Amino acid sequence: MANQLEIHDLYASIEGEPILKGVNLVVPQGEVHALMGPNGAGKSTLGKIIAGDPEYTVDKGEVLVDGENILGMEADERAKKGLFLAFQYPVEVPGVTIANFLRLALNAKTGKEVSVSEFYAKAQAALQTLDWSEDYLSRYLNEGFSGGEKKRAEILQLMVLEPKYAILDETDSGLDIDALKVVSKGVNAMRGPNFGALVITHYQRLLNYIVPDVVHVLVDGKVATTGDKTLALELESKGYEWVRELAATG
Ligand SMILES: Nc1ncnc2c1ncn2[C@@H]1O[C@H](COP(=O)(O)OP(=O)(O)OP(=O)(O)O)[C@@H](O)[C@H]1O
Ligand SMILES: [Mg+2]
Repeated sequence: MANQLEIHDLYASIEGEPILKGVNLVVPQGEVHALMGPNGAGKSTLGKIIAGDPEYTVDKGEVLVDGENILGMEADERAKKGLFLAFQYPVEVPGVTIANFLRLALNAKTGKEVSVSEFYAKAQAALQTLDWSEDYLSRYLNEGFSGGEKKRAEILQLMVLEPKYAILDETDSGLDIDALKVVSKGVNAMRGPNFGALVITHYQRLLNYIVPDVVHVLVDGKVATTGDKTLALELESKGYEWVRELAATG
């Protein structure tokens, strides 16, 4: 059985309105893929469905993690299967420090009590990579954080939790150049045979830092075309119209 995140013929809708119309996409462990596409194509919807957002109805298809269909699983079960979704914890959690939050999340993911020293070793290594002060571990999660700090906190979670597959939706986060670099550093530090990622982005610039193995383009709820990193450059110079035409003619 292949170690991969596989989205197979996925159809999904919201209040009867179809949004995903047969998405097929495979991210093998060990590879970083980018998902691009025009506004409203369904990129964030795809991410939210993989995260288990109950707002959306899956009409058909499967999302397989190492061969196992995760649709129908609770969010914490999905995390145990090794999935990490960047918008999983978008809220401020007053009264819960980053350190406590991360330890709880790590315990939940591994299904055992991780020792304090083991936890701090992981957290410190990640903080160092992200060029971030240890003081942040005692801050309340996301409370009063700037956009860039939230992004750092999210990537810190990614690095401490060490998931098998991560889906990072950067679209709405208004990343400045520092945040772009933080995301890139974190993702690049995770790269290796045991890690796969789907990075959703409009920014060709991000892909200069996180050089993707594969680029997929989602148009009107379907993957219209797939290519290597040069596809992102082609989109940058030519726009999306030609991909829309490709999608329309099948
Ligand atoms: N909760 C919702 N209620 C109504 N329509 C929705 C909802 N969520 C998504 N949609 C619609 O589904 C379509 C796809 O939205 P989605 O956010 O997935 O696009 P996207 O590809 O992420 O776009 P962007 O590049 O702008 O982030 C849009 O037309 C959007 O209006
Ligand atoms: Mg989006």
